Amino acid sequence: MNFVIKKNLLLEGKTKKIYNTNNPLEVLVQYKDNLTSMDGLKNKFLQDKGIINNEISTLIFKFINSCGIKTHFIRRINNREQLCHKVDIIPLEFVARNIVAGSMSKRLNIQEGIHLSNTIFEIFYKNDKLKDPLINDHHAVFLGIISYEELNTIYKIISNINNILKKYFLDKDIILVDFKIEFGKNYKNDILLSDEISPDSCRFWDKKTMKKLDKDPFRTGLKEEVLDIYMEILKRLNVR
Ligand code: TMP
Repeated sequence: MNFVIKKNLLLEGKTKKIYNTNNPLEVLVQYKDNLTSMDGLKNKFLQDKGIINNEISTLIFKFINSCGIKTHFIRRINNREQLCHKVDIIPLEFVARNIVAGSMSKRLNIQEGIHLSNTIFEIFYKNDKLKDPLINDHHAVFLGIISYEELNTIYKIISNINNILKKYFLDKDIILVDFKIEFGKNYKNDILLSDEISPDSCRFWDKKTMKKLDKDPFRTGLKEEVLDIYMEILKRLNVR
């Protein structure tokens, strides 16, 4: 295993910092202790949350890698950091929905909890000034962000990820309600699953009680509960 030297800060987001390393093709992703919602308008410090999310995201990315899906994740370096392939992030957030919740429930006035007969895929344009608006394939192509061919590839990958993650979580008595993922392109222009997968970016409901095991309690004002909830997810993922 090669020795990793952390270099300059490349960029800082709401919940992560990205550092260059001695290898120009690899970066260090560092998880911060911030919990955000409403496009960062609500931003709270929560001690050790970054450590827990690094562990959760590591376990999920390892699993996805083991299924043969290409991701940016190489390995966990320490309690807060992962070594990842360097990518240019495609400025689109892809959401897959299995059950109605969150913004879809509000936008279409449909009760939360209804199981969708077809998985719904949505695209949000990552643009803070515009508050990440919901767009469709044609907007994304018009904006010059992506081609139709790349979108087709990405939809196939998301569908695959959804199928394997639904089963992975169900084995741990967790229902995967919906999730948001991001993709990036490496130096060869390959599309890699990137960013993180954690209770920050997914909705998880307990299979037996339907309790929300994700960031939703924070979105509705309950900050203190979040760490216990994230620990519960980590505990279940660690059980084989
Ligand atoms: P939504 O119902 O609020 O649109 O969220 C759909 C999924 O996307 C949910 O699992 C939470 C996740 N998500 C993020 O990871 N980041 C965001 O900024 C938003 C709005 C949602």
